[in-house]
This record gives sequence, C-alpha cells and structure tokens, in this order.
Amino acid sequence: MNIEFYLNNQLITVDVDPMQSLLNTLRGNLKQTATKEGCGEGECGACSILFNGKLVNACMMPIAQAQGAELMTLEGLRQTEKGQCVIDALLEAKGVQCGFCTPGMVLALYALLEANANPSEQEIRTAISGNLCRCTGYGMIIDAAKIAATKGEGLW
Ligand code: FES
Ligand code: FES
Repeated sequence: MNIEFYLNNQLITVDVDPMQSLLNTLRGNLKQTATKEGCGEGECGACSILFNGKLVNACMMPIAQAQGAELMTLEGLRQTEKGQCVIDALLEAKGVQCGFCTPGMVLALYALLEANANPSEQEIRTAISGNLCRCTGYGMIIDAAKIAATKGEGLW
C-alpha cells in the first residue's frame, strides 16, 4: 500500500505493509537511522519522533496512520536552529554518554520547549518521563533542558 507523508518537510511515498511500524519504515525502508529501537514496546522512548508536532513512540504506530502526516526526526531537527540549540545544550551539560537515548531525548526536549519556553524542573522531569536513559541519571539531561531554555531565549 502506498503511504504518503511529510518527513522532515519532504514529501515521501513508501510502498509497504500498512501494519508495519512507523519505526521500521523509517529505519528499514527509508534508512533514517537516527531514531532508535530500544524496547519495541512503547516503554523506553528511544524511538521518539514528532508526529504532527506531538511526541510519539514510532515503534507503537502502524505506518498507515502516517498517511498525510508531518513527521520530524532527529535528521530533520538537527538542521534547525532550535534543534541545534537542544543538541548543543545536551553536549554542554554532558547529557550524552552512550548516546542511545539521545535522539529521543532531543525530540522530547524540543517538544517541551516548544510548548513551554521556561519549564520548571518538575515540568522537565515530566516531559522526559517516557524516555529512559541508562547512563546519565537524568540530572545532566535536566541541566541541558535548562541550558537550552536560557541560551535559546527568544528562539522558543
Ligand atoms: S523502542 Fe519505542 S518505546 Fe522503546
Ligand atoms: S546516554 Fe546512554 S542511555 Fe542515555
């Protein structure tokens, strides 16, 4: 079945099983491998992407649901000033260690700051509560959110 959607502002058509996951379509068919597969069950957030501006787990969504949607992954976000602001903040705060959670974290922090330019620590914790990080203990990622909010002042 042909599914047509916007991926990082580019119109894409893929011919796939409509029940195949969005994650497998991104990584397998489209070779967009920034989005990671962790649990494959909606629990870890490694596969987080933006779907019509909302953070979703791409492993839990059949590609059929993407018909006509606007998707954003790290490949697209890193090309934007806001995406780069979040990435720089994560690097500055040493919030990237093994890096496996990082693509999902960047999307989660971006979604947070788009909705709330000056989040409290509790709001940051809530925003990343669906994204597991086995390395950092989260403190550095929370610091990164604060840095991105401060250094990106006027951007968000
Ligand atoms: S791989 Fe999708 S939530 Fe873990
Ligand atoms: S940096 Fe390793 S899982 Fe987060």
